[in-house]
Amino acid sequence: MGTDNDFVSYSGDTGNIQHIWHTVTVPLGADTYDIVIGPGLLTDLAQDLKSSLAAPRYLIITDSNVEDYLGVDLVRLLRQSGAGVDLLSFKAGEESKNMGTIVELASKMVDLGADRQTAVLALGGGVVGDMAGFLASIYMRGVPLVQIPTTLLAQVDSSVGGKTGVDLPEGKNLLGTFYQPVRVYADIGVLATLPRAEIRNGLAEVVKYGMIQSREFFDFLEEKWRDIVSLEPNVTARIVFNSCSIKAGVVSADEREGDLRRILNFGHTLGHAVEAAAHYQIPHGEAVSMGMVVVSRISAAKGLMPRRDLERLCGLLDRLQLPGRIPAELRAEELMDLLRHDKKARSGRPHFILSKGIGQILITDDVSREELAAAIEASRA
Ligand SMILES: NC(=O)c1ccc[n+]([C@@H]2O[C@H](COP(=O)([O-])OP(=O)(O)OC[C@H]3O[C@@H](n4cnc5c(N)ncnc54)[C@H](O)[C@@H]3O)[C@@H](O)[C@H]2O)c1
Repeated sequence: MGTDNDFVSYSGDTGNIQHIWHTVTVPLGADTYDIVIGPGLLTDLAQDLKSSLAAPRYLIITDSNVEDYLGVDLVRLLRQSGAGVDLLSFKAGEESKNMGTIVELASKMVDLGADRQTAVLALGGGVVGDMAGFLASIYMRGVPLVQIPTTLLAQVDSSVGGKTGVDLPEGKNLLGTFYQPVRVYADIGVLATLPRAEIRNGLAEVVKYGMIQSREFFDFLEEKWRDIVSLEPNVTARIVFNSCSIKAGVVSADEREGDLRRILNFGHTLGHAVEAAAHYQIPHGEAVSMGMVVVSRISAAKGLMPRRDLERLCGLLDRLQLPGRIPAELRAEELMDLLRHDKKARSGRPHFILSKGIGQILITDDVSREELAAAIEASRA
């Protein structure tokens, strides 16, 4: 599996500064689109949008933080290029990701006279991407969507693949659609203002891609971990590119989350249980990191994964400041009960994405409570 994407570059040639960009194509038939990756994209975005999407008008949807960091500038740049543009923002944070905010935004879109030719630009992290994507998919039965992810997690994960949605009081992402963007712009320069904890959330996903599909990429992460931590531009572009290529390959083979797309949940099923047991006081990336270690321990105990690969995973996570140990206060019994209620558990029996070694996975529901409990206990702080 994989895509034909290579780390080839072309230059943004619309400004005075030459920026090196890379493109990943997500091949989905009529819905095929490109992810453009590189520093300084936002400066050239107005020109590129004009040539790739003939929308008479743009509506930027963003959150209250990103509005200040980037939203105001983007409005100015788009207006300078002659485009009609409005901006709507909502309070930053997962608490805003609900139907109430969607209805408020939709009403404001009506007030602004947004019609079916208005393209929605989702400028922000995964919360903005999921919400703006959902709104674009249902507003007047669908308007064009452009993703402009501004967190590492959104650049390597949530902006790719077309999943949109909002939370319900009963659980996360329970309402949503599959809706592909027409283009994605991942400007790695915008990561400079992102808090460290948010960078770590994205890095957990980056390690996951190596684990599920590419030993070569994992080797690269091990070799370049210092540049990764310091967000060196070329290395950052490379990790976003490789992550998007791997996700693009998976979603193009399985757009609607059949069996293949489930490999993207490596470490996540357990990670969700960790987050819930800790009342969401443990950040998502840290929980995923712990989850990857536990399922890898199960894999090693079953003789599927070489012990050396488990050590390499723990070593890399540690260098990237991601935890591999589960805090003592999270009881194994509670984690296992939460796993049974995960929405992705089929017929009440949790599925596990195990590792057959770095770069190879195996999906199975053949994991006993005893094996799971032993792996959790072996991962204690
Ligand atoms: N659709 C999918 O496939 C998918 C996949 C994974 C996660 N998600 C969703 O993504 C969401 C999490 O996304 P996230 O981690 O990006 O969180 P987020 O969108 O809440 O962003 C994190 C914080 O960073 C701020 N921020 C964003 N860009 C910034 C920048 N450049 N500089 C400074 N601050 C910035 C935001 O305002 C926010 O406070 C969750 O709701 C999750 O369900 C969706």
